[in-house]
Amino acid sequence: MSPSGDGGAGPAPASASLAPGQVTGKVALVTGGGSGIGAGIARLLAQHGAAVVLLGRTQAKLDAVAAEIVAAGGLAEACATDVRDFAAVERAVARAVEAFGHLDIVINSAAGNFLSPAAALSANGFRTVIDIDLCGTFNACRASFAELAKTRGCIVSITATQAEVPTPLQVHAGAAKAGIEKLTRDLALEWASSGVRVNSVAPGPIEATEGMKRLAPGAAQASLRKQVPLGRWGSIDEVAPAVVYLCSPAASFITGTSLLIDGGTSLTGAAGMMSLLGG
Ligand code: NAP
Ligand code: COA
Repeated sequence: MSPSGDGGAGPAPASASLAPGQVTGKVALVTGGGSGIGAGIARLLAQHGAAVVLLGRTQAKLDAVAAEIVAAGGLAEACATDVRDFAAVERAVARAVEAFGHLDIVINSAAGNFLSPAAALSANGFRTVIDIDLCGTFNACRASFAELAKTRGCIVSITATQAEVPTPLQVHAGAAKAGIEKLTRDLALEWASSGVRVNSVAPGPIEATEGMKRLAPGAAQASLRKQVPLGRWGSIDEVAPAVVYLCSPAASFITGTSLLIDGGTSLTGAAGMMSLLGG
């Protein structure tokens, strides 16, 4: 049975695995590390030997993920931080360096999203999502750059298929994620001479996440599942290894790219997304 239990085109394969130790001795800062995809990435980076510093607004969520990583033998720190606050992000970078000696990896997973018709979305609603996703990503990249340049480190930002595929009810998130993809390419170009690689990954629908709870309301779920060419939604365990790979020495010549992890969803274009409008 597929993880969705809907009898899709087959089960998710047993979690993809990389050879151990892909990021041994590295230090990673993970925004949005207190839940969902960001927490999954943090757990896998820690399993592969990185010390992780988790950022998010909710201390309790960060503490829970950090405790789990430490209990499994890893190194983790929780650092309650709103990515919209540049000075706070700078303090988090300083704390990572103070705690672990250096900074090698930045993962931008913090984001906010909700469904809203553009015609009903307030200016503040639009600005809030741009501020968290796009400005927050810039803040973490900018605040980390000097440390990443010392270690010839890397950045991976989590975008979404909405960056490319027109998607109803998500003008705010689509614009923010498209902005992050452009930021990825521009920073990759500017920072290549410092040895800092900058990439992004664009997941499609991922099971058991806050994102899909918000974006696939009951009535639209069945049709949103059917439009994935691989016949099911993905899992966090199918996103995290791609991120760890992009941070690993095996990806040392990869910069300025965006990797789709969407089961082929974006190949089908925008039409399937119209089910979000109901009817
Ligand atoms: P999630 O669990 O809600 O993750 C978002 C995280 O960002 C939360 O831990 C949240 O924690 C944190 N956050 C929100 N606002 C913040 C702020 N201002 N400062 C710092 N942290 C903040 O949702 P998810 O579904 O796993 O999404 C993770 C990432 O994957 C997002 O970038 C999302 O756009 C992307 N994505 C998800 C899917 C999917 O199917 N779920 C698909 C494509 C892309 P606090 O609220 O405690 O701050
Ligand atoms: N529909 C329309 N507008 C909405 C909305 C919704 N569901 N939720 C919030 N807004 C608007 C608010 O009305 C407000 O605008 P206003 O001042 O004109 O009324 C604006 O967005 C900011 O809302 P606020 O609640 O103050 O923002 P926040 O900074 O506390 O929270 C959010 C940010 C809104 C993105 C919140 O949903 C959040 O924290 N999300 C994080 C988790 C998440 O979204 N995970 C999924 C990632 S894919």
